[in-house]
Amino acid sequence: MTNQIIKEQFNKQAEKFANWSVSKNLEYINAYFDFCEIKPTDNLLDVACGPGDFTIFNAKRISGARGVDISDKEIEIANGLVVEFGLDNVQFDCHDVEKLPYPDNAYSVVICKSAFHHFTNPDEVFKEMVRCCEKGGLISIQDIRAYDDDDVNSFFETFDKLIDISHNVTLGEHEFDDLFRKNNITITGVFKLEVDLNVREYIEHAEQDEANKLKIERMLKNGISDPGLKNFLFKKGGELFFKRPVYLIKGIK
Ligand SMILES: C[S@@+](CC[C@H](N)C(=O)[O-])C[C@H]1O[C@@H](n2cnc3c(N)ncnc32)[C@H](O)[C@@H]1O
Repeated sequence: MTNQIIKEQFNKQAEKFANWSVSKNLEYINAYFDFCEIKPTDNLLDVACGPGDFTIFNAKRISGARGVDISDKEIEIANGLVVEFGLDNVQFDCHDVEKLPYPDNAYSVVICKSAFHHFTNPDEVFKEMVRCCEKGGLISIQDIRAYDDDDVNSFFETFDKLIDISHNVTLGEHEFDDLFRKNNITITGVFKLEVDLNVREYIEHAEQDEANKLKIERMLKNGISDPGLKNFLFKKGGELFFKRPVYLIKGIK
């Protein structure tokens, strides 16, 4: 996996991702904003911002916000939202977040939402987040988290890579904690939750080729009858869902 592949994949699926019910879910966006305790005076950097929903949500409430992402199509969508909402305190840049194009200590809040599982070099990205955050500022990650059971985790890692070839690896909660510790960021809060995601909508949020589509259907057919997965892949109201662990972590520089 290279960052060029990630860029191309997100350019292909930019609209689908932007319109996915989970990307637009205001309840999730609000909950993450509250978790970070973002204040009206804050100046926020949204790392791997995608189509910019969280950046824009912040810009409407705080002093200033900036989003950065490797996909120029995602940035185009985000810039469309800036015009739609007539905002003058938000900017978007197309750039690889392994090397952020900003000075040291430039932001009071630096966050990254739903993107670490794509990164080929999560350590580098985190170091850059820390560098761009001011002393006493807040650093936070929200992302999917590895399943506790190795077999279950391995099933969903394969599933995720077939759905979206830019999926790299899902970190476990201890790996997220270690990122903070290794970089001398004092952890001030963590929150673990599980969400039920609609499988068909999940497949639709990304672009797959025909071969992968077939493999996904095969996996689902086998998975639904696997007793080891019965708590993680299940029918609800006639539709197929899967359980996805999520992790939120924040700390002070
Ligand atoms: C699942 S999306 C999340 C977008 C947004 N943060 C959200 O919560 O909706 C992951 C994003 O990470 C971006 N990304 C992955 N690797 C990147 C890198 N090395 N540099 C910049 N952006 C990257 C992708 O382009 C994509 O927009």
